[in-house]
Amino acid sequence: MDPIMKIRPENKDDHDAISKNTIVAYEDYPFRQQTEHLIIDDLRKADALTVSLVAEVDGQVIGHMAVSPVTISDGASDWYGLGPISVLPEFQGLGIGGKLIKAGLSRLMNGIGGRGCVLVGPPNFYCMFGFTNYPQLIHEDSPQELFLALPFAGKVPCGTVKFHPAFMQLAEVEKDVVVDVIIDYAMAGVKMDLENPTVQRLIDKGILMEMPGHKVIMRPTVLEEYDPRLASLTQFRMTEMGRVHKNPFMAAIKS
Ligand SMILES: CC(C)(COP(=O)(O)OP(=O)(O)OC[C@H]1O[C@@H](n2cnc3c(N)ncnc32)[C@H](O)[C@@H]1OP(=O)(O)O)[C@@H](O)C(=O)NCCC(=O)NCCS
Repeated sequence: MDPIMKIRPENKDDHDAISKNTIVAYEDYPFRQQTEHLIIDDLRKADALTVSLVAEVDGQVIGHMAVSPVTISDGASDWYGLGPISVLPEFQGLGIGGKLIKAGLSRLMNGIGGRGCVLVGPPNFYCMFGFTNYPQLIHEDSPQELFLALPFAGKVPCGTVKFHPAFMQLAEVEKDVVVDVIIDYAMAGVKMDLENPTVQRLIDKGILMEMPGHKVIMRPTVLEEYDPRLASLTQFRMTEMGRVHKNPFMAAIKS
């Protein structure tokens, strides 16, 4: 007999299972940030998990989907962002992800009065649920063709979409690279392996800026949005370096 799959809202006993489920499911996803489980935790802490559904088989959480509010620069309200969404690898391809998405969208549309939903993901999957790319809706952190929207009511807004601040976080490997740059800080930039995917992600996020000679420099104002503590460390290091470089005694030692 096929196991019975149930979709229901999360409860407080599900939090650990949701985290573990998310980490395992995202392991092979090529665009993973390694922060997906942390995003869900932070959305929950900020009371911004508008919809949090689990898929359960025999009392075990095997899938999860989160929805949280987004802001749009033209002032459009009641729009939401779908994700993270995950189904344990051994249960993928059985229609569970699709059922989570349909249940979540139905809640947004009918229960919450949402006007639309956006997400970042593969168009060939999400088009099955009506999502498509609208050139007038922009998400600065992802390629335009992967930024998809589904209006429920009224016209599609026009502007820049921002996900909840819980999405702005750095993975441990990204923090390690940022710390390396802080430690090696040099006025003309720090030499880095620009082929390294973590370095590339930090460049895409705008935290590191490429310089000639395989070097990068830090942009603390962008880093601030992701990690204020590391940003203030960077500022401190930059001020220190500036002071040392201007110090004639230090300059004499270096020459
Ligand atoms: C994406 C995910 C939630 C879908 O769950 P699921 O239960 O496998 O989905 P369904 O069974 O309802 O649908 C499966 C279909 O989606 C397609 N699909 C799944 N992931 C896809 C992807 N990244 N790109 C394109 N198609 C994808 C499958 O090929 C399958 O198509 P088919 O039925 O024509 O063979 C699940 O694959 C998952 O957890 N992936 C890892 C995490 C992830 O990628 N999250 C989404 C990031 S946007």
